[in-house]
Amino acid sequence: MAVAGCTGGGVQGMPGAAGLRDPYFPKAGNGGYDAVHYGLTLDYAPGSGKLTGTAEITATAQQALSSFHLDLDGMDVDSVDVDGKGARFSRSGQELVVRPADDLAKGRTFRTVVHYSGVPKTVEDPDGSEEGWIETDDGALAVGEPVGSMAWFPGNHHPADKAAYDVAITVPRGYEAVSNGVLKSRTENGGHTSFRWHSAEPMASYLATLAIGRYTVRTTTADNKAGVPVYTAVTPGLAKKAGPVLDRIPEVVAWGAGRFGPYPFAATGAIVERDGALGYALETQTRPLFAGAPDVDLLVHELAHQWFGDSVTPRTWKDMWLNEGFATYAEWLWEEDHGGLTAQERFDAFYDEDTEADPEADGDYWAFPPADPPGPEHISDDPVYYRGAMVLHKIRQAAGDKAFFAMVRGWTADHRHANASTEEFTAYAERATGRDLSEVWDVWLRGDGKPDER
Ligand code: ARG
Ligand code: ZN
Repeated sequence: MAVAGCTGGGVQGMPGAAGLRDPYFPKAGNGGYDAVHYGLTLDYAPGSGKLTGTAEITATAQQALSSFHLDLDGMDVDSVDVDGKGARFSRSGQELVVRPADDLAKGRTFRTVVHYSGVPKTVEDPDGSEEGWIETDDGALAVGEPVGSMAWFPGNHHPADKAAYDVAITVPRGYEAVSNGVLKSRTENGGHTSFRWHSAEPMASYLATLAIGRYTVRTTTADNKAGVPVYTAVTPGLAKKAGPVLDRIPEVVAWGAGRFGPYPFAATGAIVERDGALGYALETQTRPLFAGAPDVDLLVHELAHQWFGDSVTPRTWKDMWLNEGFATYAEWLWEEDHGGLTAQERFDAFYDEDTEADPEADGDYWAFPPADPPGPEHISDDPVYYRGAMVLHKIRQAAGDKAFFAMVRGWTADHRHANASTEEFTAYAERATGRDLSEVWDVWLRGDGKPDER
């Protein structure tokens, strides 16, 4: 018997949830489906600043769906199809609600095609910094952490739903367009150049990037220490300053592989924009983004994120210290391995707030426990970085070097290309080192204020 609202195959779906209930960004991401692939076909006109796009999103329904949400902040949506049939859609804030012609059965893989266009917006972070779409002197940058990616393509914008990507981007001749992964083709066609970028390994949407500008690009084959091709794009004028640092990418990647386990991606590289184009650097997958020529420590930090954050991705934004603590500790380890302060000396400087030993040891990192930022505006604050690194050093002290580094390599192997939470990490670290680390967790990871003893 036909029931109202019951369609074609007789599936009766329910609406998918509008968010994934992230403790800091409850509306980020959406429930009811798992995105497996994004195919973005984009055209950018630097003069008008207009982006015209088609997003093909392949996803699997985790429940029977009558409707589902995508996140998209700004832009005009021209049409939405699901499996080739026109779908109804509506918009409210960052939510793009799609109502397919036929309800979708649980387990079904379906393809949503969104045609959209407009001048993408710059989003202000809860902490006041800028993300989303940033226009530069000669192009634009797409930066996604934590919730900026919804400014330039519709998707399931929460780190818990990682997917493969293909990004095709067309720009006027004379411009370069850089995204994540491997460059499949670069073709000139009349007055335009088209680039096809491919990321086979899963990527959280906040790590997707696009950089359009008159960059100087360099590509190598995999025949280097990193064992994967290196693709760098540097804004004019910074080539000389950035060059010697970027030349060390293969060395840093090889060092990281020794410390943290095999490099997780098929390519590496960097994008160097002008000084001040952005207030921070970002670990965009396979191709970290810098505003100004980085120094080696910053390069090490962003490349270390390829293991911590990009391959092993936080389950929620509360787990941010797993990204920043590890990336900061990687800088300490690099220094230790290259004739600088040892990690112990660095740890001591931070405990003693000795800014002579380390200018960053200014004591701003005691404000809250790394695993518990007091709000979304604090997920990139000093305690997440420096005290996060101190937590890792405390584990190393308790376990000894051999067990500690084996644990780190096991952690990146176990959660490669996946997600992990703080609770999974603490349980893993205890299992892998065979130690009761509850004091480290209670005092350093979760305790309020500066610990009484180092
Ligand atoms: N994850 C970046 C890094 O440490 C920093 C991002 C800062 N973002 C922000 N909204 N404050 O490499
Ligand atoms: Zn970082």
